[in-house]
Amino acid sequence: MDKINNNRNFMKSNYKDMENIVTDQMKDLPQPPLQKGYEKDSEIIDLIPIEKVKIINDNLIQNIGNRKSHRQYNDKPLTLEELSFLLWASQGVKSVYERNNKSYATFRTVPSAGARHPFETYLLINNVTGLREGLYRYLAIEHKLIFISELKNQSEKIIEATLGQKFTGTATAVFIWSCVSYRGEWRYNIAAHKAMLLDAGHICQNLYLACEGIEAGACAIGAYDQEKIDNIIDVDGENEFSVYLSPVGKY
Ligand SMILES: Cc1cc2nc3c(=O)[nH]c(=O)nc-3n(C[C@H](O)[C@H](O)[C@H](O)COP(=O)(O)O)c2cc1C
Repeated sequence: MDKINNNRNFMKSNYKDMENIVTDQMKDLPQPPLQKGYEKDSEIIDLIPIEKVKIINDNLIQNIGNRKSHRQYNDKPLTLEELSFLLWASQGVKSVYERNNKSYATFRTVPSAGARHPFETYLLINNVTGLREGLYRYLAIEHKLIFISELKNQSEKIIEATLGQKFTGTATAVFIWSCVSYRGEWRYNIAAHKAMLLDAGHICQNLYLACEGIEAGACAIGAYDQEKIDNIIDVDGENEFSVYLSPVGKY
């Protein structure tokens, strides 16, 4: 019961406990980067700008009404245009806000407490036209993809890491969202964590709705093995760790 009570308390607001806390931002400590860095000689793939994307169904009311979790996918690939749209809808950057001549915040297609946007989007690509299989990361500010690595037995690995949920292994792509925790903590200290989880929900909801627009389906996944997913996306599990994922496919 202690653990349940602790978890219940985690769901509650702890802004009162913030009264005596001086955050790193207040201490004028350097702000963490808005996005994880990458080697300049990495394999970078240009995505299609949203202005050029044609969406099959852009009727918001229909898309909200039709939204549901899809766990069965056919063999149809996603096009790069469709993938570009899903990435834009879930994490796309609309503008970068400068303060004191430094990038201070991004404004995106989803809300985030204090515009901290503490997430990185990894993709396990299985069947996207023009992309080879493997692990990728979305560079949201540039609206590009970075190829990270090929994975052996990708499908088996994701099924195992999602505790045997077989449909994850048949998806066209699996979106995996990691949290770079200090991005939120720098500003909100102990109030960051509840907010960051709330933020994650918005991302996945936009993915669901965007999928409806291109006759594809998503399914939020909260049941997964923390270490195994963190290993798949090659993060340390402390400063950056996975929090949520969703397979996507045509149906
Ligand atoms: C936080 C969260 C975690 C979820 N985890 C899983 C999961 O691990 N596996 C799964 O098949 N569905 C998962 N779902 C999907 C729910 O089962 C689904 O939303 C629910 O059954 C309602 O169905 P609908 O989305 O079609 O309305 C999750 C949904 C949410 C919001």
